[in-house]
Amino acid sequence: MSNSDNRAVWGSKLGFLMAAIGSAVGLGNIWRFSYMAYENGGGAFLVPYMFALIVAGIPLIILEFGLGHRFKGSPALALAQHGKLGEVLGWWMPAVATMGIMIFYSVVIAWCVQYMGFSFTQPWATDSSNFFYNEFLHLSKSPMDFGRINYSILATSFGVWFITWLICFKEVNHGIEKACSIFMPLLFILTAALVFWSLTLDGAMDGIKAYLVPDWNKINVFTNKDAWGPWSAAFGQIFFTLSLGFGIMITYASYLPKDSDIVGYGLKTSLANCAYSIFAGFAVFGTLGFMAAQKGVSIEQVAKGGPGLAFIVYPEAISSLEFGSVAFGVAFFLTLVIAGLSSGVSLVEAFVCSLIDKFNWKRSYVVSLVCLSGFILSIVFCTNAGLLILDIIDHFVSNYALVLGGLLECIFIGWVIKAEVLRNHINNQRGLNLIKLWEWSIKVVTPIILAIILFQTIGADCLKNYGGYTTKALWFFGGGIISITIVLAVALTLFKWRTPKPTHKPEDEHLLT
Ligand code: PHE
Repeated sequence: MSNSDNRAVWGSKLGFLMAAIGSAVGLGNIWRFSYMAYENGGGAFLVPYMFALIVAGIPLIILEFGLGHRFKGSPALALAQHGKLGEVLGWWMPAVATMGIMIFYSVVIAWCVQYMGFSFTQPWATDSSNFFYNEFLHLSKSPMDFGRINYSILATSFGVWFITWLICFKEVNHGIEKACSIFMPLLFILTAALVFWSLTLDGAMDGIKAYLVPDWNKINVFTNKDAWGPWSAAFGQIFFTLSLGFGIMITYASYLPKDSDIVGYGLKTSLANCAYSIFAGFAVFGTLGFMAAQKGVSIEQVAKGGPGLAFIVYPEAISSLEFGSVAFGVAFFLTLVIAGLSSGVSLVEAFVCSLIDKFNWKRSYVVSLVCLSGFILSIVFCTNAGLLILDIIDHFVSNYALVLGGLLECIFIGWVIKAEVLRNHINNQRGLNLIKLWEWSIKVVTPIILAIILFQTIGADCLKNYGGYTTKALWFFGGGIISITIVLAVALTLFKWRTPKPTHKPEDEHLLT
């Protein structure tokens, strides 16, 4: 591999961990996890969540770290050693990350930046829902009805892409590592401040109760036929939250030095990420409890997840605070911005790294090309239909592309590259050893679970159009993004390797003892 010799290396172990945790901890940890827990049995949800973490999350993050480290390359390079089909998969994963997710993730970060500014004047005070949908987004009725471009959102999105460009422009040890070494401590301080502040508010404890009191029946598959829901939700969330199935962790691990504790890194990253989610949930539900108490309604009536939580419920709570509401608003939206940016750079880096590995182009040139194309594609989310299109694309990417990517990755690595080869490589490193059971988790358990989740989603989507959108809109945007990324992956595979084409090294097999 031509550029393995002059490949950048993380400056320190902590730097690598900060970057990996930075990718994992994102908007999803704040607005997706706690609401999901609340909906799926409160404290009882921790059982399927931990189960999913142990059975699929940790094995797969170790797999991605191991693969990137073994082949010292991006997903495209690592998987290209095993034929064209492998290479297509190796391109598809990062293509989905950048062209499927970052294009809307960047716009959501832009909304957070704008809301941070709004915290000073709180123009949402009279009706936060009306403000968000009508005054801020000018939301149209249908995803096909684009309306006009919202120039302030467009300008802020440009700013977000610009910062991403700045961070990715330099080699990882100077760019992403430095940025995450500032972002992550700041994120934890801000989150801790929000948690403690939220817990002091009236009604906070009722919110925490709703978040954590276990409803065992919700997850008991022997007594409740709907109990499969929380289990599959837990697996979906673990994949999303650990940024698995996009080749991001493969890319990050490719910059690790020779002798690295792959298993230890996998454990630390995943545990830190999940602990953060649970911790941040206290801020979310503490505030929801306060909101409910203020309005004299039940938690159920104020609880929301996703953009509804961040842009409707939270702003209302911010305005209801007796003192410090500006600081609280700024802290909350800044937390989202930082969590989003540190994930955003990883979404871009996976694709950038693949392009550099294959074409040997200059990093500055590739980063500029990727960020510029990404920004241009983001424009569609800055139109009046932006939120609706974003919702559709998010559904398809998170539920189909991500799960399918993870599934194919397990099958390909488990059976074609062979899990035992990778386990041997990992066990030849210093640090913790990987037990044999891991191979079965990669070869059999995780793929079966992912296949079940995939079929469940397909089944649900066939019965009822997702989100009540028209079939045409769903095919146009959801089918569109999946097809575009597949075409892009195939096209990139067809190009010639400008670096020596990676070849499968038979000596790997000799490692098997
Ligand atoms: N893990 C991030 C979150 O929880 C989102 C993300 C998904 C980032 C996939 C990168 C890749 O929000």
